[in-house]
Amino acid sequence: MRILFATGNSGKLEEARQMLPGAEIQRLEVETVEPQEKSLSEISKYKVRTAAENAGVDSGFVMADDSGLFVDELNGFHGPLSHPFEEKVGKEGLLELIHDRSASFRCSIALLDCEDREVEVFTGSEKGRLVPPRGEKGFGYDPMFLPEGSDVTWGEDQSQKEESSHRKEALQKMAQVLDLRG
Ligand code: IMP
Repeated sequence: MRILFATGNSGKLEEARQMLPGAEIQRLEVETVEPQEKSLSEISKYKVRTAAENAGVDSGFVMADDSGLFVDELNGFHGPLSHPFEEKVGKEGLLELIHDRSASFRCSIALLDCEDREVEVFTGSEKGRLVPPRGEKGFGYDPMFLPEGSDVTWGEDQSQKEESSHRKEALQKMAQVLDLRG
């Protein structure tokens, strides 16, 4: 089964390909639009609909991912604003703002079935702690994230993320609905 993934983030694309071996994931080359919404799921739904429309896709499946880092001490900020926050404040800047480093990643994947125009949303989350960046692997906050029960970051060891992550949980739920086998 072919799924078009509307994303400019090569890290997300690589993870989807690795975590969904039963599907052929192709990048949909189109500008994605992110509204100023509070929920990842509303943003991912908007992203997938506008991407399919702007690219003129009218058959098969299109998916979009909206994800973010939710810091407990900041009441879940910066969530859907993770990308601009990371660009402006930076990883070290974030650590300077907080004392308690508990945080979780959340992911929302919206899947559009172009036949009936219905969108289904799949979600996942992963708890952990933030530390000064270690390791070069992955993308975004991976080098700062210690998943619960581990003392190495996702930046140091991506195999942990391949086993369990916010994105993997969401993708697995989607694979079940599409009846994709690994
Ligand atoms: P989006 O493009 O609006 O979904 O923003 C995603 C942003 O959230 C990324 O640029 C990272 O800052 C952060 N993020 C989401 N998922 C991950 C992940 O799996 N690893 C590291 N950072 C992530």
